Amino acid sequence: MRTLQLLSGQTIPVLGMGTWRMGENARNRQTEIDALRHGLDLGLSLIDTAEMYGEGGAEEVIAQAIATRRSQVFLVSKVYPHNASKRGAITACERSLKRLQTDYLDLYLLHWRGSVPLAETLDAFQTLQQAGKIRSYGVSNFDTEDMKEATHLSGGNAIVTNQVLYNLMRRGIELNLLPWCRQRGIPIMAYSPIEQGRLLNNWTLEAIAQERGVTTAQVAIAWLLHQENVIVIPKSSRTEHVEQNYAALDLKLSPEELATLNAAFPLPTKPVSLEML
Ligand SMILES: NC(=O)c1ccc[n+]([C@@H]2O[C@H](COP(=O)([O-])OP(=O)(O)OC[C@H]3O[C@@H](n4cnc5c(N)ncnc54)[C@H](OP(=O)(O)O)[C@@H]3O)[C@@H](O)[C@H]2O)c1
Repeated sequence: MRTLQLLSGQTIPVLGMGTWRMGENARNRQTEIDALRHGLDLGLSLIDTAEMYGEGGAEEVIAQAIATRRSQVFLVSKVYPHNASKRGAITACERSLKRLQTDYLDLYLLHWRGSVPLAETLDAFQTLQQAGKIRSYGVSNFDTEDMKEATHLSGGNAIVTNQVLYNLMRRGIELNLLPWCRQRGIPIMAYSPIEQGRLLNNWTLEAIAQERGVTTAQVAIAWLLHQENVIVIPKSSRTEHVEQNYAALDLKLSPEELATLNAAFPLPTKPVSLEML
């Protein structure tokens, strides 16, 4: 597995597994655990979650999936903006740790910006880091101006990643946020890499997939894996999809295929605000 180095010195795999929509329904629990375990067996050691997902349910599913193999996992969770005060973020993190049945997170993110001053959240993150409860911290859904603002705050320069919506249909960050982060050694975590399934029936992707004997999801993921300084976290609750997503690591797109995708999904002609799902 290719990895990137974070500003904290940690290495992070370029491909992982998302968990949004997991832990919402007890009937799906075993299937979700099986999918995550299968991913771990293959070598997908990065798992992304949030206290929001299933209101803690996704973290409980993950706890079961990683129970005997915590040390193999790079575990990411996120705090709700309304919990991101100095005291609130610390207790939210402790609740997440309890649900995940672990004593540390590899990475803890502010899910999106809310009304709590960012300085307070960063203060809480530094306290959690000093206590060994999180190895590093970052943000999510931050546009370039938010990132710039953070760098002026205590602890802002230790932000190791920004998790944002990025896929073939959402290329706006290539105009500003992505180069800004690249310059500073801050990898982007690309969420919704297949646009929650909406990219699956795109005919350009289908044509490339058919020619290469792969699936459209794999082409969409492979395109993101071609981007420098980007980590990709597709979500799947099905072992066969997890396998496909893992195999996208080996799918090298040719310059012609990349040019075809670039033409079918052009960059916006002028800067756009960061989109979110
Ligand atoms: N920070 C944020 O604000 C934020 C926002 C959104 C998402 N995220 C994170 O990013 C992760 C990924 O994003 P996402 O879940 O929104 O969307 P996504 O990964 O783009 O798409 C997930 C959907 O695609 C399907 N799928 C996955 N692999 C497939 C394959 N190989 N072939 C066909 N279908 C496939 C899944 O169904 P099956 O389960 O049936 O395979 C699911 O319905 C989330 O789970 C979450 O961890 C973060």
